[in-house]
Amino acid sequence: MDQVSRFYGGPGGLVAAISSALDSAGLDRTQLRPADLAPVDEFHIRGRAASLEIVEALGLGAGSHVLDLGSGLGGPARTLAELTGCTITGVDLTPEFCEVATALSEWTGMAAHTRFRVGDATATGLPDGSVDGALTVHVAMNISDKPALYAEAFRVLRPGGRFVVYDVLQGEGGDVHYPVPWAHDSSTSFLATLDDMRELLPAAGFDVLSEVDSSDESLVWFRQMRARIERDGPPPVTFAAFLGDAFGQMAANQVANLAERRIRTVMYTCSRPL
Ligand SMILES: C[S@@+](CC[C@H](N)C(=O)[O-])C[C@H]1O[C@@H](n2cnc3c(N)ncnc32)[C@H](O)[C@@H]1O
Repeated sequence: MDQVSRFYGGPGGLVAAISSALDSAGLDRTQLRPADLAPVDEFHIRGRAASLEIVEALGLGAGSHVLDLGSGLGGPARTLAELTGCTITGVDLTPEFCEVATALSEWTGMAAHTRFRVGDATATGLPDGSVDGALTVHVAMNISDKPALYAEAFRVLRPGGRFVVYDVLQGEGGDVHYPVPWAHDSSTSFLATLDDMRELLPAAGFDVLSEVDSSDESLVWFRQMRARIERDGPPPVTFAAFLGDAFGQMAANQVANLAERRIRTVMYTCSRPL
């Protein structure tokens, strides 16, 4: 686990780095909307578009309380909070990401709706049945004990509540080309297959309402992102703020991983039976 949080947490100073990149681009931090930060804080394939699908799938309204397991820099949480009015607790292993997520919520006026705490998604410490909805986005790739992750989501969710999983799965095309945006090598990468997921989620107690494979859209998204950066240059802040220079190689590998069917992106909408 230390190895995972070391991969994501950089040398420190990420809040200041993002802040000065926004200042240099002439963006007023007090006027920011959550969507303005998507190139840096929606840290998953298909970015904000995928978060909008998750909002839809969760079907929650104002007054709901939601748990985001592995909340990163908080993009999905802020998107959900802004569009529904719900409140969200994010739990993430990487202390620096929790610090940045808290600052970004302050800048975008979302601080009253989100809080981010350092913790392990397989043991959050939240009370049983205490949340109306839960999500986990591109996190399980770093977690070897997937039964523990899904059991924890089931435990904290109230009966009738929904749990949305959007993750990267192992494809049929062979071993992943590393580095990727979640790991330098296979030592911290634990991809489930489609068949694994079809066992894991029901085994945790969930009813699986839908399984949507977006791998083709993911390939288009990565190609378009790379073409846009080549044409217009990068946006003021990107994942390179914390992934560093390796991000270029990671993005190129992801295009190959998707094109060669080595990875797949799949979203599951589940419910905890009443
Ligand atoms: C690729 S990022 C995704 C972040 C966020 N869900 C998003 O979509 O923008 C993966 C995140 O999972 C977190 N993570 C990995 N293993 C974890 C664990 N066992 N418990 C909590 N967070 C974890 C990392 O710290 C990182 O922030």
